[in-house]
Amino acid sequence: MYPINLSKKTALVFGVANHRSIAWSIAKTLHSAGANLILAYQNERLKENLSKITEGLPNVSLFECDVSSDENIEELYNQINKKFDSIDYIVHSIAFANREDLSGEFINTPRKGFLTALEISAYSLIPVARLGSHLLEKNGGSIITMTFQASERVFPGYNVMATAKSALENSVKNLAYDLGKKQIRINAISAGPLDTLSSRVISGYKDMKTYNANKAPLQRNITFEEVANTALFLCSDLSTGITGEIIHVDAGYNIMGI
Ligand SMILES: NC(=O)c1ccc[n+]([C@@H]2O[C@H](COP(=O)([O-])OP(=O)(O)OC[C@H]3O[C@@H](n4cnc5c(N)ncnc54)[C@H](O)[C@@H]3O)[C@@H](O)[C@H]2O)c1
Repeated sequence: MYPINLSKKTALVFGVANHRSIAWSIAKTLHSAGANLILAYQNERLKENLSKITEGLPNVSLFECDVSSDENIEELYNQINKKFDSIDYIVHSIAFANREDLSGEFINTPRKGFLTALEISAYSLIPVARLGSHLLEKNGGSIITMTFQASERVFPGYNVMATAKSALENSVKNLAYDLGKKQIRINAISAGPLDTLSSRVISGYKDMKTYNANKAPLQRNITFEEVANTALFLCSDLSTGITGEIIHVDAGYNIMGI
């Protein structure tokens, strides 16, 4: 059992595609700390994966939600509201860009690919937070999203997703201001490279991992558990004074000049 006790708390987690998803490591950790889980999966195709990996786990509910439409997000919260009076945490662990826009030169990013990446990977946090805030505000609450350091520096190949992460991080700060009056906190975890479905699509991903391990002060890459433990801290009452932050969980890579 974790030293942080989240029993009687409920966490809504977006972004579990399979057992390698960062969202899944966070969900497992919150659940181990006692929280009820609501997992919002993108589409019917993923439902089978989720049913398998959650089989036998108590206090887990599954709902479908493609965040490309506000109506879907509204419908999700309506469904949740029928079953739960309130929720305590929202984890937004979602990103998407067309595969062809994650290689080659950024200068060639097409308009449509740019809009798609920004809509799913950055904009979606806004309606997820706004519509979810009605269920969160009864208890205060905490929202977490996932970002990457390419928001601040150039990682060749990360391309349009880097622009999306910059927009996402700025949104976190503006949302922190808006939600603060309801005592709802929102923060981003800027994680180092981890092997998932999404990261493997990025050309140059393997190099990013090698550089990270060689140059980071801790001289290694991070683990899924380290990200999940930071999410646990950000949900817990140990972090009630923290909002609008971008917390790097990257073995210290981001502080290095050379
Ligand atoms: N893996 C890494 O190295 C790394 C590092 C830093 C940040 N991140 C971020 O972590 C988050 C999770 O990614 P991951 O690496 O776990 O990969 P993943 O592929 O397991 O997760 C991405 C999730 O986004 C969901 N998604 C995409 N489009 C959606 C839509 N329209 N509606 C609803 N859901 C949608 C997918 O279903 C999937 O569950 C992303 O924001 C990613 O950018 C990943």
